[in-house]
Amino acid sequence: MIVTVTPNTAIDYTLFVPSFELNKTLRTTQAVWGMAGKAADASWTLGELGIPSLATGFAAGYPGKRMIEMFHAKGVQTDFVWVDGETRINVLVVSEDGRGQSTLAVETLQANETHVDQLRAKYMGMLDQASTVILGGSLPGDLDPALYTELIGAARRRDIPVVFDAYFGPFLRAGLASHPTFIKPNRVELESLTGKPVSSLEDAYRAGMDVYRQYGTMVVATLGEEGALAVLGDRAYRIPPLKVKVVSTAGAGDAVLAGLAYALSEKKPLEDGLRLGTAAAAAVIMTPATADCRREDVEALLPKVELIPYSL
Ligand SMILES: Nc1ncnc2c1ncn2[C@@H]1O[C@H](COP(=O)(O)OP(=O)(O)OP(=O)(O)O)[C@@H](O)[C@H]1O
Ligand SMILES: [Mg+2]
Repeated sequence: MIVTVTPNTAIDYTLFVPSFELNKTLRTTQAVWGMAGKAADASWTLGELGIPSLATGFAAGYPGKRMIEMFHAKGVQTDFVWVDGETRINVLVVSEDGRGQSTLAVETLQANETHVDQLRAKYMGMLDQASTVILGGSLPGDLDPALYTELIGAARRRDIPVVFDAYFGPFLRAGLASHPTFIKPNRVELESLTGKPVSSLEDAYRAGMDVYRQYGTMVVATLGEEGALAVLGDRAYRIPPLKVKVVSTAGAGDAVLAGLAYALSEKKPLEDGLRLGTAAAAAVIMTPATADCRREDVEALLPKVELIPYSL
């Protein structure tokens, strides 16, 4: 079973407006609820694909209950630690004139050290049945990033593969200290990790190889509409993006986590995971709700994914 751990849970309320403007009442053309939080998103996408997963982390309040219902609707199993405050409701605004989208993120979840102890205990129990762990996102409040070091370390000591995705250098470094199997930074995240600009595939390759040499961790650098670069240590691939109608890109990167976890969990070639992840990312982009996709889109896109061997 794939276990996904999302400490700072959230759901996304995505609003579509013809053209975003300040100081005006805007009428939405569409309003949809989606999952949020990197690892939780991956569970939601896996659920749509009929791949079992068990989601854990911190949940709170009515939005937490709603999140659990959304998981169950996609066939995802859940076992969360209930904490104070509320699971976050992020508001996304998509401007339909093609100018892009913005996320308004809130911090409403409150977890203390007792809650962390509860999560630790729950997670250690789950490792008995874990075939792969996906861990990611931010941490609520001022919880110590060392929690990532600890949770990843516990899985790796049992030889359980870990796919780790955090958005910020210090979180990424805390996780890398325990040698996760994969990280999946986007451009900004890779820059915050290395402190160097990533403005070309070559930059992404060099950064990925640095991480691999230092930690033994493979890197899938996703570069938005420029696709992705996968650095697997002894080989690397450039993965062009698929041509799909862009509705909302939120959660596309998290679909890549789902694909990688599938391959690791089923002991399939990593290339299969890169293909599934890329197809799922494109399918997520085609739907309005974050991390939502249609299985038939993923199946139709899968044969179109290209892995092009890359070297300097
Ligand atoms: N505009 C786009 N057009 C086509 N494909 C895209 C586009 N944006 C993203 N993708 C695909 O989705 C993959 C992951 O996207 P991205 O790099 O944006 O991840 P991310 O920033 O981690 O996203 P998120 O955190 O919202 O899930 C890319 O490698 C690419 O294949
Ligand atoms: Mg991401």
